[in-house]
Amino acid sequence: EPVESFDYVIFGATGDLTMRKLLPALYRRFAEGQVPGDSRIVGTARSPLDDESYRERVRAALREYIGADEIADTTLNRFLGMVHYVSLNGADASGNWPALASLLDSGAGRTKVRVFYLATAPDLYGDIARNVAEKGLRSETSRIVLEKPIGTDLETARKVNDGVGRYFPEGSIYRIDHYLGKEAVQNIIALRFANPMLERMWDSESIEYVQITAAETVGLEGRGGYYDGSGALRDMIQNHLLQVLTVVAMERPSSLDADALRDEKVRVLKALKPLDPRNLRANVARGQYVQGRAGGKPVPAYREELPGEAPSRTETFVALKAEIDNPRWRGVPFYLRSGKRMPEKVTEVVVQFRAGEPGLFGEARPGSRLVIRVQPDESVTLPLFVKHPGHGFGLEEVDALSRPAGPERARYRDSYEGLLLDAVKGSPALFVRKDETEAAWQWVTPILENWRESHEAPDAYEAGTWGPDSARELLRRSGHHWVEDA
Ligand code: BG6
Repeated sequence: EPVESFDYVIFGATGDLTMRKLLPALYRRFAEGQVPGDSRIVGTARSPLDDESYRERVRAALREYIGADEIADTTLNRFLGMVHYVSLNGADASGNWPALASLLDSGAGRTKVRVFYLATAPDLYGDIARNVAEKGLRSETSRIVLEKPIGTDLETARKVNDGVGRYFPEGSIYRIDHYLGKEAVQNIIALRFANPMLERMWDSESIEYVQITAAETVGLEGRGGYYDGSGALRDMIQNHLLQVLTVVAMERPSSLDADALRDEKVRVLKALKPLDPRNLRANVARGQYVQGRAGGKPVPAYREELPGEAPSRTETFVALKAEIDNPRWRGVPFYLRSGKRMPEKVTEVVVQFRAGEPGLFGEARPGSRLVIRVQPDESVTLPLFVKHPGHGFGLEEVDALSRPAGPERARYRDSYEGLLLDAVKGSPALFVRKDETEAAWQWVTPILENWRESHEAPDAYEAGTWGPDSARELLRRSGHHWVEDA
């Protein structure tokens, strides 16, 4: 199904995210026939490029990130024909706005869906929104997509939201969190609410704890400028992991409409029990990797990857214990963790059900463990014990659920693909509402403040391991352990 024709205006068009994620996603949807040929992609950034030189950069990026052998030359050339470039500093009112305006208004521009995608530093978002509005670039259908991070704490997040909100109504602001674009994350909603059996067991009476892990093998990847000012808590937990948590923990929404869904998600964030700053170490562990091994090769320490090998207290790993203070979840720990330079790239949700009574089959039966794997492969497994065939009552474990891969063509290869088109279609359900971002920052900000005020450094962990001992200790205190320590 093709979407309506659109004009996508990308601010930050020469950046890493645009080259690595946005353009490949648009290209793939185009190659699959979902993007009408009279749509346009207009890149803007400060570099003084013209259409041709920008297209050459895009060509190289698509070949690199999609793979040259997956790209047909004719398709690529048709795609590049849709790509334009206007050299412009989006935050500067005296920039070349007339050129952008006349390009957008040319052809049938006024009647197309217009999406502004902000992928610059977030402190520019307010100025860009103002310029877009004051230079007359908004159309009746215009939408503005905001890339993360929305601010660096509660105060700056509010500033960004209010800055953009002055020129765009909330209904046209699409805050992207690409984890919500992941098939397996969306599937959690289906799994929970399409299976009455699971729905009935989805609470503190049946569930002992939940673990949400997003581990990566990569290190800094040359993103030091951004990452060192951010760290794992802001980069992954505040957005991606808390979003996954909301989907796991929310009450049944009254419908799948954007606001019904987001009303329930924000309630979860607001119910997160504030972490007691005096007791933070008992609930939050942070680490920074030192030399170790990745993919069989020795890799340097985080600090050695920073420009000038500057000393840094930025955390590359966080593990924490969150609690949701509502009747469904009171007393159930939600363990979240994310880190760079872990032993494998894996994102998964583990739902640990409570153990059974001893008796019939000897010792107490261990509780079942539902594992929802998001990456690298998608699957859902719930091992069940059955009788081992033959004489007697020996038991064996079988996997009760597993998700088939599904038809290749219907699937998105990257989570940005569906989301970019959702913005064109005007479906905000899988985007983050203002109150959600702010509630997440509200919970996270005291942790950041506490770290800033304390003079402690993150705990060291060897690259290629599952983080510092303090992360294991965090669970041990509650008699639990991380999945890989089973
Ligand atoms: C981004 C972070 O939002 O998510 C990166 O800025 C991280 O640091 C990435 O690598 C992880 O995304 P994914 O989809 O590979 O799990």
